Amino acid sequence: MTNIPQNGTKDQKAADEQRKRRELKTKQLAEKRHRKNKATAVFFAVVILLAGVISASILFDIFSSRSGGKNVQLSLYIGDEKYALQKSDYITDGEKYINFSKIANALSLTLSGQGDTLRCICGDDYDDYAEFSKNDGAAVVNGSKIRLSKPVLCKNGEYYVPLAFIENYTKGISIEEDLENRKITVSFPDGKENVGFVLKKSESLDPVSDEGGIGTLDMGFSADLSAYEKYMNPENAGEYLILVNSSNPLGADYVPEDLSDVADTRKDGRNVQKMVTDAEKSLEAFLIEARAHGYGDITVTSAYRSYEYQASLFSSYIDGEMAENPALSKEEATKIVATYSAYPGTSEHQTGLCCDMHNMASAQTSFGNTDEAKWLAANAWKFGFILRFPEDKTDITGIIYEPWHFRFVGRYHAKRIYEGGLCLEEYIASAK
Ligand code: DAL
Ligand code: ZN
Repeated sequence: MTNIPQNGTKDQKAADEQRKRRELKTKQLAEKRHRKNKATAVFFAVVILLAGVISASILFDIFSSRSGGKNVQLSLYIGDEKYALQKSDYITDGEKYINFSKIANALSLTLSGQGDTLRCICGDDYDDYAEFSKNDGAAVVNGSKIRLSKPVLCKNGEYYVPLAFIENYTKGISIEEDLENRKITVSFPDGKENVGFVLKKSESLDPVSDEGGIGTLDMGFSADLSAYEKYMNPENAGEYLILVNSSNPLGADYVPEDLSDVADTRKDGRNVQKMVTDAEKSLEAFLIEARAHGYGDITVTSAYRSYEYQASLFSSYIDGEMAENPALSKEEATKIVATYSAYPGTSEHQTGLCCDMHNMASAQTSFGNTDEAKWLAANAWKFGFILRFPEDKTDITGIIYEPWHFRFVGRYHAKRIYEGGLCLEEYIASAK
């Protein structure tokens, strides 16, 4: 009989136990790895969940703030009358904005979008207005260019302007921001008829205008006058700032260079009138825009006059005065004529830079009461013209009020003369 060695059985048992221990360890390791993976997955899931919650709350905050915040309460009053504004009428987007369409609507202001420009007019006169560029912060307030820190916003067809604009460039509008209680109140303490645009911040005026004026876009023209820009706003702004009056005569032989036919000469049989080309082209633009505003029958009756022609005109007026009043001496008649017609050599008609224009049979002071004359006087500067003989300056000019006589000086100076309420004599004296 073969004896199975004892040692063999023991070895087998030991090997089995070792294998079992190895298997157990492998199993424990696998379980440990599994638990670790599970913990990591749970950790990442929690992180992702938290990130989601945080992002959602940030987005909610942004949305809330852009649309005015859920707690902002807006009120719009005219006198004691309260108009409803919604929370979304107040926007904060790096800048605080208010829904200007609603304010304009409550005040019955004209708010119109034209091309790249948004225009708001107060009252019946075109000269109380603000224009905003839809592309950048450029804006014009009553003819003066300003720059807003942010452009106007358009949301769902309604326009929002920065609150700072209301504060700095309007009158009669009060906006109270009670941020603690998140309450905004818009009111018009002096009544809606006293709301208007005004320049409160002169430092915001665009310094670019010192370099030759402001562009066509800023003028808010209804017609496309870009081709006329170089004439209305000549590069050499001082070129046409010439003073001709009884103290500053021209020589009898002075004839301007570069005269062109006036396109809008009255077609009543008289000769075609002439003006210096820059002035004539600017006048064309002026009358194109006048027609776009419905003032279609303004025509030029007299522009360049030679020394000789002015002399014959002056002399015919003396004859006329003496015929009307035979008691007058020639000297007395001459004095009367000199209040409405310049002595030969002292008429700026000899410069070729001015013209008489109106829609009457003959020039009369009553033309100044017409809508046409008011529009011409208020808008002439945009085309480089000034009303040369204003009603309140007759003691300085020595000439009666002539609502028909417009003089070209270029937009740069015309704007300053108009805004300063000056006549040419005063403006030139102040520049010295
Ligand atoms: N009527 C203006 C003053 C002129 O004759 O020049
Ligand atoms: Zn004239």
